[in-house]
Amino acid sequence: MLPEENREPIIEIEHLRTQFGETVVHDDVNLTINRGEIVSLVGGSGSGKTVLLRQMLGLTQPAQGTVRVFGEDINRIDSERLQQLRNRWGMLFQHGALFSALTVFDNVAQPLRELGTLSKSVIRDAALLKLQMAGIGCEHARKMPADLSGGMIKRVALARALALDPELVFLDEPTAGLDPNASDSFVRLIRNLHDEMKLTVVMVTHDLDTLFALSSRVAVLADRHIIAYCKPDKVVEFKHPFIETFFRGERGLRAIEAMPDE
Ligand SMILES: Nc1ncnc2c1ncn2[C@@H]1O[C@H](COP(=O)(O)OP(=O)(O)OP(=O)(O)O)[C@@H](O)[C@H]1O
Ligand SMILES: [Mg+2]
Repeated sequence: MLPEENREPIIEIEHLRTQFGETVVHDDVNLTINRGEIVSLVGGSGSGKTVLLRQMLGLTQPAQGTVRVFGEDINRIDSERLQQLRNRWGMLFQHGALFSALTVFDNVAQPLRELGTLSKSVIRDAALLKLQMAGIGCEHARKMPADLSGGMIKRVALARALALDPELVFLDEPTAGLDPNASDSFVRLIRNLHDEMKLTVVMVTHDLDTLFALSSRVAVLADRHIIAYCKPDKVVEFKHPFIETFFRGERGLRAIEAMPDE
């Protein structure tokens, strides 16, 4: 983690409450993510991870509390300002969320075209570069999403999330459904981007290998709030049934042992 004086908060969530009808999903959630961090958000199914990401993107409004991204209260800015912020981050949705009627290339080119300022050739080069970074060769550029495997869809979605050279990316289950090789190359890609561009990453994941390989901090969502927020190797010190099952099983212990040395 960064020394105290160099910390620049990119995301600040305070006293957030989320409610759908009678169901309270989050109650007094507080979370600060600094520039250059890779934060993994974990929690049981239905604990509100995806909703929390959507709130960071300004797509879902909290019932109470504030969400500041790049210092701006995301629920109090006008749509033009929100669009400017959106150009500074990328998002990989949990279920791929490619446009099924667009080719692989057009899916990645679309955020670049929407800027309205780039020439055709710049868009072409940038989109192909991002695909290549995500491990998709140009021979796949003209394919339709329906003709891709699940792992390839994730990679194209990642290429699209990176299209605008974002400072911040949100990844919802980026390695779910990938084979171990594809997961490893995903980890290398994120680590490289992080090292080269000081990318800040907020990632929801169930994949302990990815979590331990990448995270500067882990936030655990349970009982409607963040029950632990610390370095990955410290999480097991928090006594909670979710943490016991998720981190302390055999898989968890193996992943802790395989953690890179600092
Ligand atoms: N628009 C909505 N309207 C009503 N309820 C919703 C809405 N969006 C989410 N929920 C509910 O909020 C809770 C949290 O959902 P969320 O999708 O954030 O869970 P999650 O932690 O991402 O789960 P998973 O690990 O299965 O993806 C769930 O009970 C879900 O049914
Ligand atoms: Mg989810």
